[in-house]
Amino acid sequence: MNPTQLFDPASSTYTYLLFDEQTREALIIDPVDEQLQRDLDALAHLGLTLKWTVETHAHADHITSAARLAELTGARTAAPAGCDVGTAAVQLRDGDTLAFGREAVRVLHTPGHTAGSVCFLWRPAGEAAERHVFTGDTLLIQGCGRTDFQSGSAEQLYDSITRKLFPLPDTTLVWPGHDYHGRTQSTIGAEKTTNPRLAGRTREQFVQTMDGLGLPRPRRMDEAVPANQRSGLRQDAGGAASGEPAPAEGYAGDITPRTAHDWMQAGQAVLVDVRTDAEREWVGFVPGAETAAWKQWPGMALNPGFDAAVQTAARDGRPLMMLCRSGVRSIAAARRATALGLAAYNVLGGFEGDPDEQAQRGRKNGWRHAGLPWRQG
Ligand SMILES: [Fe+2]
Repeated sequence: MNPTQLFDPASSTYTYLLFDEQTREALIIDPVDEQLQRDLDALAHLGLTLKWTVETHAHADHITSAARLAELTGARTAAPAGCDVGTAAVQLRDGDTLAFGREAVRVLHTPGHTAGSVCFLWRPAGEAAERHVFTGDTLLIQGCGRTDFQSGSAEQLYDSITRKLFPLPDTTLVWPGHDYHGRTQSTIGAEKTTNPRLAGRTREQFVQTMDGLGLPRPRRMDEAVPANQRSGLRQDAGGAASGEPAPAEGYAGDITPRTAHDWMQAGQAVLVDVRTDAEREWVGFVPGAETAAWKQWPGMALNPGFDAAVQTAARDGRPLMMLCRSGVRSIAAARRATALGLAAYNVLGGFEGDPDEQAQRGRKNGWRHAGLPWRQG
């Protein structure tokens, strides 16, 4: 049983999908924001239930889709404890295991590329030894991750690779976080003997090489690191404050809660609450909004009645404005409504807004935070 390897050409990032062949429960490693639909399609195509979306570190070169994947599939998010990803449901420490069906991966803390970086070890069910290691940016094929920013340390990276990865059996398959030359996998044995940065090199030589690389700053670093520390929810999600919809792909655009409220008051557009019945009851509802749950309990499965409900909401031809909890499901709902031939906007931040640094919602953005009318169920 091998992982399914997926590639994002823009950032040369590999994403890995692991699953239990019997229960069809799955775990995804380092999913990329721009590839969300590809990953959802892969899950659907393989008939998988996503249990976990996990990160090897807080990336500087791409943004994770973890939060959106979790919201759309019901998966839980996990990230290394040392990476300050406050929004991750589970903070991973060395030796932790994450189970999906009869399968599990084990966390190996491998500081160096960043202080929190981890690798994941996978021994497929029924096999005698751990056969796969997902190395993120710690060990690359014939290379390794850089150590010159984000709490990186060449000394630590050398120790992590030589003391934690190289002692694995030589036949262990190495699945890297990136490759820029079209290579897909390697083995511990091959890297130990031929990796030019490590084979036959002392710790001092390695540190000298790493210190002398003089690499340019990653293009997306200032955007990507903060976003990844929030599981991929962007800091700029409160944009479009002018009342003009921000352009968006696959739907009419993004609008703030204030704009949505104004358009609703003016009778220009119809507010559609796509949260579940239970969420509206527990958290509160917006008077005057139509309802069309995108997903529904039990199990947060897609609601088969969604299409009919949005068509009803759009019966007089006015555009729709989709509102969910935090502005993630509403994007999926707006895209679906657009595919049905309706005009649909996404309301940024949803009802409760994005979580703040303490993972608390309702303090940053969203409908309630903006002081717009709502009532407790
Ligand atoms: Fe990285």
